[in-house]
Formats: sequence, structure tokens, C-alpha cells
Amino acid sequence: MIYQVYPRSFQDTNGDGVGDLAGIERRLDHLVALGVDAVWISPIFPSPMVDFGYDVADYTGVHPLFGTLADFDRLLAAAHARGLRLLLDFVPNHSSDQHPWFVESRSSRSNPRRDWYIWRDPAPDGGPPNNWISDFGGSAWQWDVGTGQYYYHAMLTEQPDLNWRNPELRAAMLDAMRFWFDRGTDGFRVDILWHMIKHADFPDNPANPDWREGMADMHKVLQLHSTDQPDVFAIAAEMRALADSYDDRVLVGEIYLPVERLMAYYGKDGDGVHLPFNFQLIDAAWDARSLHRMIRDYDAALPQGGWPNWVLGNHDRPRIATRVGEAQARVAAMLLLTLRGTPTLYYGDEIGLTDGAIPPDRVRDPRELREPGLGFGRDPVRTPMAWDGGPQAGFSAAEPWLPLHANWRTRNVAGQADDARSMLSLHRDLLRLRRAHSALATGSLTMIEAEGDVIAYQRVSGSERIVVALNLGRDPQAVPVRGTLLLSTIGSDVFTGRLEPDEGVILLVQD
Ligand code: NOJ
Repeated sequence: MIYQVYPRSFQDTNGDGVGDLAGIERRLDHLVALGVDAVWISPIFPSPMVDFGYDVADYTGVHPLFGTLADFDRLLAAAHARGLRLLLDFVPNHSSDQHPWFVESRSSRSNPRRDWYIWRDPAPDGGPPNNWISDFGGSAWQWDVGTGQYYYHAMLTEQPDLNWRNPELRAAMLDAMRFWFDRGTDGFRVDILWHMIKHADFPDNPANPDWREGMADMHKVLQLHSTDQPDVFAIAAEMRALADSYDDRVLVGEIYLPVERLMAYYGKDGDGVHLPFNFQLIDAAWDARSLHRMIRDYDAALPQGGWPNWVLGNHDRPRIATRVGEAQARVAAMLLLTLRGTPTLYYGDEIGLTDGAIPPDRVRDPRELREPGLGFGRDPVRTPMAWDGGPQAGFSAAEPWLPLHANWRTRNVAGQADDARSMLSLHRDLLRLRRAHSALATGSLTMIEAEGDVIAYQRVSGSERIVVALNLGRDPQAVPVRGTLLLSTIGSDVFTGRLEPDEGVILLVQD
């Protein structure tokens, strides 16, 4: 299981209201007790923090807010000493506009690093070279007065896209990965991998006929030519070859694409990323029949040797407990942690955090600031982790950079640790079962035909057979399966063929 830490919000140790590397180290035992295998930390690199670290100004350093390289080395050693793997967040599509490479690139048209970014002449009318739209809204092209050209930024103006068609840039970025691999980093989550190569001719993107008022500006066009281009796979393969030149490293790709496109990122004969993130559970309607089809179809679509993965939440999307409610969040946890494949858990979901309320004067996220009021803001899912009922929930000695969630005095790690029925205990129990039963860890998955609000599937390894049955609804449901009850989301002691409302069960079935 991969656990995502949003480092600004995990644990502050130096009293500045922002989490840091020493804080992650302090809390490693929480992760061990939970049953985590690997920790992925969102960006920790030097950055002006316009996009909270996803605007990198130095790929081989640590932002002073988070600590030093020595702190990183200590954290890595402490994680390894506990049997935990550590993944960093590599942001290869764009840098910060404060990165020395971009400062050089924009300094003159003849600068040797000019071609490390994407510069184009204006359209004949003087406007942007094409109609591509930034994911944060508005044209994806920014005029540079000094050199009389536009540069491309798929994200914020302050995040110019790097030109991966330039071999020197490519080599420099792979060197940056090597830097962290050499230190012992176990792998990377690769930011917006599917954006990295654009159509060589930069044609206009087609208009999106389904765009309506209230949708994000970026969806006015379909990103047909600006993303998911065939040449991206060669980059993934280069990264993979680099990872494979070390022992036991992993690459996870951030890719928001439909399943049939996503599968290509496993690569030809496995030369892509190990785990192209499968975000379907994040976007899915919480409906048993459509989830059933989705799970079946995803498993069937995997390429030979492709290992599945599932994600319920991350730092960009509403939290699961907000999307489906508290009772169903427990069912969702059972789903995430019993499906075939590597699950990724977002920090705080193990205690059932919901989206925080952010007063207008505390809004920090550029997504919200640029398109306010449409519900795209990500601050609500980045509120500080709550460790105990003490001042600032044990997160910091100072006022946190984002407000704590409203009920932090009761919803925190210490408050749940000794309560066998808590969300935290449920996660620990699920992960303990996953380790104890090879059917759950690595077994095959077969969907069981069910009706209405029930999802059921079987996991088999050797002679071990486990059935998972989940009730996504508010009515009791008959499930014609018998077996020894290993775990119930509502704490039932036995299973008699009937799921209670909001109940999920794991059954060991003897033939
Ligand atoms: C994807 C990251 O998850 C998101 O937080 C960030 O804003 C964009 N990439 C830009 O890097």
C-alpha cells in the first residue's frame, strides 16, 4: 500500500505552521502501525510555492521550509530501518519560472537554454500561437516582452513547460532522477506524465461540444494535441530503463485518461511506468452496478504482466468521506484495500477526514484563486493532519498554514487508536488481513454477479478463497455466500447471509 503524504500538512516540527521532513520522520511509526509499505511525499524541492511545490526551482535540493538534504537522508534511513519505502514526486513537465534554466531561457532568443522550454512566435494577428488552454484557466501561452515570443505553460503562468524534445534537457532531467535514486530513493510518482510531449506542430485543439457554463475553462477544448502524444512513451521508457538500472525501484505515473488510453502507459512489454495511476474510483458515481463493471473492465484491460492499482483520493480531489459520507467511506476503504493491485491512500483518509471549510481570507490554492467559487479549490483536502486533541491537533506549535478541520478535537489519530470500531482501526485491520492472506495480497479477482446495491468479488490464491461483499445502500441485502467472517465494516460478529445497511464484509470461504 502506498500512503501519500502532503508534506506541508503532515507534521510541523519547527513551529512555522508548515509540515516538514523531520515531522514525517517523527510520524513514521503511525505509518508502520497502519500497515503502509511505501510513502509517497508530494514535492519537497526548492520552489516559490505558487503551486505549493509543483513549481520546482531546483530538482536536486530541498526547500528550507521542509528541511535540508541531510534531513531527507535521515528520513530515508529511518523509513528504511522500519521496512518502509520512500517515493518522491518528480515534476518533469514544467519547472518554476524561477528555475535558473528558465531565467536563462527567457534571457535571450540565442541563450543555449532557450530550447529547453517551449517558445513560439505569435499567430499572424499577434495573439497566442494556438487555442490551447491552461489547466488553471486562460490561454496556455504567456507573452514575453523581452524576447518577443510566447512560452507555453499547461499549468500556471509561473510553471513554464519544459521541452522534452530537446536532448540536453532530457539528459538533465534524467540526471535529476539519478541524483535521488543514488541517495536511495525507492522511486517516483511522476507528475502529469501524459502532458509531457505535445504535438510537434502545435495545431489548435478541437472545441469541446459538451462544455457548459460552470465547467472549468480548460474543458472548453479537448486536449487532443496538447497531451497523450505517441512520443511520450519513449520518455517513460527512458525513465523506466533508468529505474531498472537500480535494484527494486518503482515509477508511478499521474495520468488522467480513460482506461483504454491509460493502459498504453504500462509500455510495450512493460517498458513504461510500473503503475499508471488508476483514478477511476475518484471520479466514479458511487453506484454498485457501475463500479462492478468498472472493476471488471479495468482488470480485463490490463496488459500481460501489468499490475493493477487503485486510488480513492489525493491532494487534488475532494476527499472520499465528503464524496460518499462517513458510513460509505468505511465501505470504500474495504473496497480500496481488498481489490487486486496496489492501493494508494491519501493521508487523513485513514481517520475519515472530510473536506475542510476554508474561510475566504484563508484561501491559498491558485486553482481556487483563478477560478473562484466553482468548487475546484484544493485547500479543503489539504488541511493539517490531526494527531491528538492538544493544541493545533498536535500538528504544529503555531497556527497552521491552512485551518484544521472543524471536529479535530475528536477526529484525530490518538482518539481513534484505541477504539476498535474507529476508522483508523478499520484501516489497520484491513491492512493486517491483506498481509496475512495471500488471496487478498496477490490473488486473482473474479467479480460475483450481484444485484442492486451489492458489489461482490472473490479473491483466490492457491487453496485460499476470500469473498468480499459490500452494501453500498441503505437497505439490508441478502448475499448467498457462506464463510467465516474475517472483518465487517460495522463490527458484526457473524455473517448469516445478510448485509446490513452500509456494511462490507470479508469472508474466508471453505469449499
Ligand atoms: C498535478 C498535481 O497533482 C497538482 O497538484 C499540480 O497542481 C499539477 N500537477 C501541476 O503540477
